[in-house]
Amino acid sequence: MSSFEGDELVEFFTSHRSRPEDLYPSEARFLPGLARSARSLLDVGCAAGGFVDIWRTYNPGLRYTGVDLSTALVETARARHPDAEFLVGDCAEGLPLPDAAAEVVAALGWLHWEPRYGTAFDVRLHSGPGDLAGSQDLPGGGSTPYLCLDWPAFAGLLGGLGAQAIEGYGYIGAPAESVTGMPAEICLATFVLTRGDGKAEWSLDLPLSEPGIPAS
Ligand SMILES: C[S@@+](CC[C@H](N)C(=O)[O-])C[C@H]1O[C@@H](n2cnc3c(N)ncnc32)[C@H](O)[C@@H]1O
Repeated sequence: MSSFEGDELVEFFTSHRSRPEDLYPSEARFLPGLARSARSLLDVGCAAGGFVDIWRTYNPGLRYTGVDLSTALVETARARHPDAEFLVGDCAEGLPLPDAAAEVVAALGWLHWEPRYGTAFDVRLHSGPGDLAGSQDLPGGGSTPYLCLDWPAFAGLLGGLGAQAIEGYGYIGAPAESVTGMPAEICLATFVLTRGDGKAEWSLDLPLSEPGIPAS
């Protein structure tokens, strides 16, 4: 059983993040255009399915598949959105889906909770050195790790993935009040990677820079 099953947690994710106004500033910069250009989406860490309505605001015909660790959240998502597909799975362990199962794979609003962050592109960053590890209290009790990554090291990881294009959108903000062990301000960032031939084109809209990577 995952740590994301309790009634209060399900209630929290049912009442948050289901309207375009709920997008974070980094997401609002790319999600509408990405939604319009895509036919299918795999939304990893979909919680109670709130993003079905957000993505379909921009593309009503989008084929949406959500995956989440939590059985309770996936059952709630299925009841709220019978017109979308949902499955239970752990993205860091591998999902029971074929390669290229969707044109766009999103993992928004949670990968800074995942210590196995080699899979992660929605991240919290600082200029380093070293990753910072804190924690975040969850609604209804319990907590989850909260990570703030060393930007130069994370940029190296991104650059080694063989993507054709790497877009980064970030802004400086304060971690939520439920977070402990973090600086007062960090960079909250989302990365969009396009599969390709391995010669990555970088396009960064981040308040951080790195020698060798063009910063805007
Ligand atoms: C904060 S919610 C994010 C929901 C939504 N994507 C958003 O941005 O509001 C985080 C979700 O990620 C799920 N999750 C955490 N680790 C996961 C993993 N390894 N694989 C799939 N889902 C995971 C949790 O169960 C939880 O529902």
